[in-house]
Amino acid sequence: MHRVFSGIQPSGELHIGNWLGAVQNWVALQDQYQCVYCVVDLHAITFPYQPAALAARTREMVVGLLAAGIDPERSILFVQSHVPEHAELQWLFTTVAPLGELERMTQFKDKAQRLESVSAGLLCYPVLQAADILLYRAEAVPVGEDQLQHLEFTREIARRWNSLFALDAPYFPEPRALLTKARRIMGLDGQSKMSKSLGNTIGLNDPPEVIWEKLRPAKTDPKRVRRTDPGTPEDCNLYDLHRYFSPPDAVTNVALQCRSAGWGCLDCKRVLADNMVKTLTPIRERAAGLRAEPARVDEVIAHGARRASAIARETIAQVTARMGFLPRQEV
Ligand code: TYM
Repeated sequence: MHRVFSGIQPSGELHIGNWLGAVQNWVALQDQYQCVYCVVDLHAITFPYQPAALAARTREMVVGLLAAGIDPERSILFVQSHVPEHAELQWLFTTVAPLGELERMTQFKDKAQRLESVSAGLLCYPVLQAADILLYRAEAVPVGEDQLQHLEFTREIARRWNSLFALDAPYFPEPRALLTKARRIMGLDGQSKMSKSLGNTIGLNDPPEVIWEKLRPAKTDPKRVRRTDPGTPEDCNLYDLHRYFSPPDAVTNVALQCRSAGWGCLDCKRVLADNMVKTLTPIRERAAGLRAEPARVDEVIAHGARRASAIARETIAQVTARMGFLPRQEV
């Protein structure tokens, strides 16, 4: 069975952007692949963060993934820092990683310009991401569009390492991205990608009244100014969301009502809010159930770390042997 790997930052909770863009696909892929899913806490510390909140956010992300449908028996679900081989492979890869390319990564440039002092860890973020994927020799990586550059970099690391240390046959595969239709979900501001740090999200845990509070002021077709102006659904960020949350006949009706100015934007938002609540309520309820059973969540996390470690140790043994290190004795 081919292997899939993907990761998510412990930002606290899933939102409809990372859920539609990646996590829904993670759930679907469980039937066809051996899936390895990781909450990447080592990545999260490359940008200023609150140490007191990291553990709770990491746990909450595990809860969110379970509630969204990740099955910890079929898939390996674990926390990155619990498998130290991620950091080890990352170090080995820094020695083949081209510095110029790291400096040119768009996510690095975006984050660096918001900081007074830029750490080497932030620069090496994509090297750690390459180590995550290649530690499991994954062939496919379900992600949103914003991760494509990091994935191209991962392929480059695989090629470079193979050409130096695996002369007979490539050891690492060159993993490909698995994108969905929802490769880039825009935030409620209609300006930027939906992202927790921009405060433009709808969270999977948001109760119905919060979903409505957030949707009511959300940006729609910018050219539709008055209630009587006909709108253009394709120019409306919320029409895009209808396509993911509303049944097909409702989506057709929304487009019709918008173009004919039969509905105002608020009418359209009410229908969207209802359908979102219908879709998200079961996930929110499952998450609440899991929070009430912390021992079960702990066991899932420990089980995932054991299974991930078994694969990771084997890769590190192969990699260090090929790189010429003195074999480690049992200690
Ligand atoms: P992160 O935590 O920012 O996002 C997790 C996944 O969700 C996707 N995503 C989106 N897709 C569509 N629209 C959006 N608005 C949106 N927001 C987020 C992301 O593309 C991603 O797939 N660097 C990664 C984490 C990572 C990783 C890895 C991913 C670390 N190691 C190895 C894959 C493989 C990140 O910060 O994702």
